[in-house]
Amino acid sequence: MIFGAVLAGGIGTRMHMADMPKQFLSLGDKPIIVHTVEKFLTCTDFDQIYIGVHPDWMGYMDDLLEKYTAYARDRIQIIAGGTDRNSTILNVVRAIEEGFGESDEHIIVTHDAVRPFVTLRMLEESIQAAREFGAADTVMPAVDTIVESVDGQVISDIPPRSRMYQGQTPQSFRVSLLKSLYLSLSEEEKGILTDACKICVVRNYPVHLVRGAETNIKITTPGDYKIAQAMVGAITGD
Ligand code: CTP
Repeated sequence: MIFGAVLAGGIGTRMHMADMPKQFLSLGDKPIIVHTVEKFLTCTDFDQIYIGVHPDWMGYMDDLLEKYTAYARDRIQIIAGGTDRNSTILNVVRAIEEGFGESDEHIIVTHDAVRPFVTLRMLEESIQAAREFGAADTVMPAVDTIVESVDGQVISDIPPRSRMYQGQTPQSFRVSLLKSLYLSLSEEEKGILTDACKICVVRNYPVHLVRGAETNIKITTPGDYKIAQAMVGAITGD
């Protein structure tokens, strides 16, 4: 079975501009997270879509689903997010296992609630790659040269740009694989590894690349929010 995991457990500290987590801010005629959930609903591969929300905002999320996506309420479940992004993913994994049992066939498609411009093509390719390879990330070739500085003062390395990519989401995994890799981490590693694909990378499990899009931005800062407001309605996507 195929499960969506819309990650909305954060509170958007870098947004500095609202009395609510950024995923609930308006974008065009509806909240950011509703755009994201609607995109998931266009993908018929999903048997169930989970939304991991901060515990204080679960009732608010429920009201949004009632208002905007009541037609698909039976395809969506709201669960409590965790203290960090990976914990939110693990809470979804737990909910999947409680609802549908454990199976090597289960695929989870994790996605930032604050990337509303994800496309159906990305979701479908991510699912396909996870089915075939076990783990898939969505990336874009780096446009700028990436400069590394260990101390934040001087350059320590400039890796060849042709090998550099920028990570986006969706990130999709065979559920059993992700769970066993996550459980193999020490508490210290769990604290550091905020990116789910990095869990695979540190355990030498190959993660397949799927092409993202420049438009698949993550709304993190007030500047991103302004860009997203200019983009909404103008983006058709593939
Ligand atoms: N996220 C989550 N659970 C957490 C923390 C983050 O599901 N405990 C989600 C966010 O809601 C967001 C995505 O992960 O959709 C990407 O994280 P980020 O942009 O860092 O969101 P926030 O944690 O909300 O923002 P900030 O880091 O500025 O506080």
